[in-house]
Amino acid sequence: MMFSLLTKWIRDLSVGSSCARRGLCSRHHSLWILFIIFVICIAIQTFVAHQARNYKFPGQPHPRAANKDQQPSAVHDAWEGGHWQKERPVDKSAKTSDLPETSQALSHHLHHPNQGFESLSLQTGMDRINLAPRSGVAAEVLPRKRFLSKRRNKASRGPSSSVSTRERPTNTLSPTKSFKDTTCQPKSHIFFLKTHKTASSTILNILYRYGESRNLTFALPLNKHSQLFYPHFFASHFVEGVSSRSVKEFNIMCNHMRFRKSEVAKVMPADTFYFSILRHPVSMMESIFTYYKSIPAFQKTRSLDSFLENSWRSYNTSITNNHYARNVLAFDFGFENNVNEDAVDFRDRARVAIAAIQRDFHLILISEYFDESMILLKHALCWSLEDVLSFKLNSRSKQTRHALSPNTTEKIKRWNALDWRIYLHFNATFWHKVESQIGKEQMKREVLKLRQLQAKLSHTCLKEGEAVDPAHIKDAGLKPFQYGAAVIQGYNLNPDIDELTKTKCQKFITPELQYTNRLYTQQFSELTKNKKKAARIAAIHSGKTGMKGTRKPLW
Ligand SMILES: *[C@@H]1O[C@H](CO)[C@@H](O)[C@H](O)[C@H]1NC(C)=O
Ligand SMILES: *[C@@H]1O[C@H](CO)[C@@H](O)[C@H](O)[C@H]1NC(C)=O
Ligand SMILES: *[C@@H]1O[C@H](CO)[C@@H](O)[C@H](O)[C@H]1NC(C)=O
Ligand SMILES: *[C@@H]1O[C@H](CO)[C@@H](O)[C@H](O)[C@H]1NC(C)=O
Repeated sequence: MMFSLLTKWIRDLSVGSSCARRGLCSRHHSLWILFIIFVICIAIQTFVAHQARNYKFPGQPHPRAANKDQQPSAVHDAWEGGHWQKERPVDKSAKTSDLPETSQALSHHLHHPNQGFESLSLQTGMDRINLAPRSGVAAEVLPRKRFLSKRRNKASRGPSSSVSTRERPTNTLSPTKSFKDTTCQPKSHIFFLKTHKTASSTILNILYRYGESRNLTFALPLNKHSQLFYPHFFASHFVEGVSSRSVKEFNIMCNHMRFRKSEVAKVMPADTFYFSILRHPVSMMESIFTYYKSIPAFQKTRSLDSFLENSWRSYNTSITNNHYARNVLAFDFGFENNVNEDAVDFRDRARVAIAAIQRDFHLILISEYFDESMILLKHALCWSLEDVLSFKLNSRSKQTRHALSPNTTEKIKRWNALDWRIYLHFNATFWHKVESQIGKEQMKREVLKLRQLQAKLSHTCLKEGEAVDPAHIKDAGLKPFQYGAAVIQGYNLNPDIDELTKTKCQKFITPELQYTNRLYTQQFSELTKNKKKAARIAAIHSGKTGMKGTRKPLW
């Protein structure tokens, strides 16, 4: 508009104006014209700047469209033994998709600009902990970040290759800190395979807080369920908003499921970052035995020892929930869990499982090194240290922990031989990543910093400064779900904090079920409420809910 006015004016000036035909009439006139041109220039500049600010980055290709080139993979299909196969709600011919392509991974984070965030600082004596997401400063360096991230993403990465795609200075003490922050874009397409009894509830809380504060969309279980219909193999229509098409793009998927890559890839964008966490199978078995004492496999046994000694002989693999009793990690990752160490194909099965996990996941964390895991995760996702702060959630009171004898330990390893192999492998790759991508010394420094921040946070947020037994939790809404013979601890908020800090602190200690519920309500109350209702009615009428005969998850 401004341009056409200008050209019109110039045309008038050169053709129509007699003054212009004669050249510049007088000195006075030419100064006047120069002044007008000057004013117009400024107007154009303002207009262009305004346009640039309003400019939205062009839409990325639809995530699901990027998954067309699927390659058949025998891995998962070959492993789907057991009775679950019979009830699997998904198509048998499902294929495992190829590695996620990252070439178009121009930060989707840009869709969630950070400017609007209030920055909350927790006042703890002289120190301040910034609980808010990255400040608005990030927005100012956007053009540069964008360019860098574009260029970096050309060096495409596969899940098994690297944790972090940023160029990391070898000398981490060099003054490159500010530069470092501009060389990667925080990831906001994230898949977390939530494994059982592995501190995964704490990670869930981290993801929930991160996503909630940035208005990211979660791939939540249908109809307010707490899990994605575990222990069934995952199917894309388990996610609210998929069948109804009421959600255009999902950012984070992190609820319990039995993993199936091809189905997850139907929901999540192609550049999604996949990660999970493993725990030492021995302490895991001890934990599971207490927590899932009521499953048929454990019901009649006196102790873990007696189970490992004799009872396993009567262990029936096809009874519901008995999968918790053996190689539950392998089960969660989608593999057949009833595998004997002395079977002829044991080594092959272990190798195939490890290769598949390595192919499908960018990062595997280790519970025993939780703080180090958070640092690795922080680097891989290009998040800040504040983003990976947490309080331990869903953890057991010490009174229900049992010490294990060396004999029992060995028996557990043999009984869970597949999990043991997987654990050993990914414990090794974990430390390899620490060394190759961060360095042991730098890791120590960052872990120290994380623990300092964590201590300050506990001091600010918590009344007792630590977890307490459920009987001592004052706010019923913050009481964690209790199950089995374990006592799951929770927290009390410090009563002497202002409302804003309280709200932030509350999110850190909100138990999984309550938080999932709240996110669901938030996500589906506003924009999609009416659409969802209509979709549900339509689904009921066409009988396509697909959830008939679903077992209730063990909760
Ligand atoms: C998140 O969404 C809510 C509701 O639509 C809106 O009020 C808020 O400003 C958004 N926050 C950010 C950071 O985008
Ligand atoms: C295992 O349980 C299934 C289903 O309950 C039953 O049909 C089968 O006979 C059981 N097998 C053994 C060996 O007890
Ligand atoms: C451990 O196993 C060894 C050999 O099987 C046995 O001699 C020993 O008594 C066992 N110890 C305990 C505490 O059960
Ligand atoms: C895991 O790796 C660390 C570092 O290499 C090692 O110290 C630890 O013993 C490993 N854990 C197991 C169970 O092998």
